Amino acid sequence: MKPPAIAIDGPAASGKSTVAKLVAKELGYTFINTGAMYRAIAWYLHEHGISPSETEKITALLPDIPLEFGKEDSHSTVLYAGDVLTHQLTDPAVNESVSIVAAIPEVRTFLLRKQREYNRTEAVVMEGRDIGSVVFPDTPFKYFVTASPEVRAARRAAQGLTDSIAERDKNDASRACAPLAQAPDALLIDTSHMTVEEVVNRITQDVRAKLSH
Ligand code: DC
Repeated sequence: MKPPAIAIDGPAASGKSTVAKLVAKELGYTFINTGAMYRAIAWYLHEHGISPSETEKITALLPDIPLEFGKEDSHSTVLYAGDVLTHQLTDPAVNESVSIVAAIPEVRTFLLRKQREYNRTEAVVMEGRDIGSVVFPDTPFKYFVTASPEVRAARRAAQGLTDSIAERDKNDASRACAPLAQAPDALLIDTSHMTVEEVVNRITQDVRAKLSH
């Protein structure tokens, strides 16, 4: 039987990363941050002077892109030239270009395979925009985490980041290929007035209840 895949989707700064990491820890599953995978490609392109509009060039480059999607201490990593990418992924240039890069269908197809590969042998908590709708449409564990625009802007500011999440959300929700969307069978959780612990409990309780049936 395939190991469980827990899908956690939602807009930028909804708190889904924090929650997904803790849910993974609580369940003993591997945490996969798919936003970091899109960010790594956006970073690589920027580093090599390739514009997100050069889709043919990007498509041709993807099969040999020297990024390694791996795992360390129960969470996903992206390596370049042997180093784990960290601060590079929140570079302002990346924040600006990532949703344009993520709208390229060939980029999504390329990463979709990598994302599903993680779940072939291990249970995962995967965080993103299209995990419940596209990556694991058959999983019974789908959660759509959101919060009001004001709360999300405040959370972003508290992280010391000032990127335009409204614009990114608009791009992510309006693209043709695998847009940010709540799967019809996902459990909607508005975290505006919830603590992190409450959200984590809500999800882990639901997962455990479904696993025991
Ligand atoms: O979760 P994040 O903010 O790090 O994601 C960065 C960008 O990547 C976001 O603007 C949308 C895109 N993304 C996506 O299109 N699909 C995913 N599964 C995850 C992220």
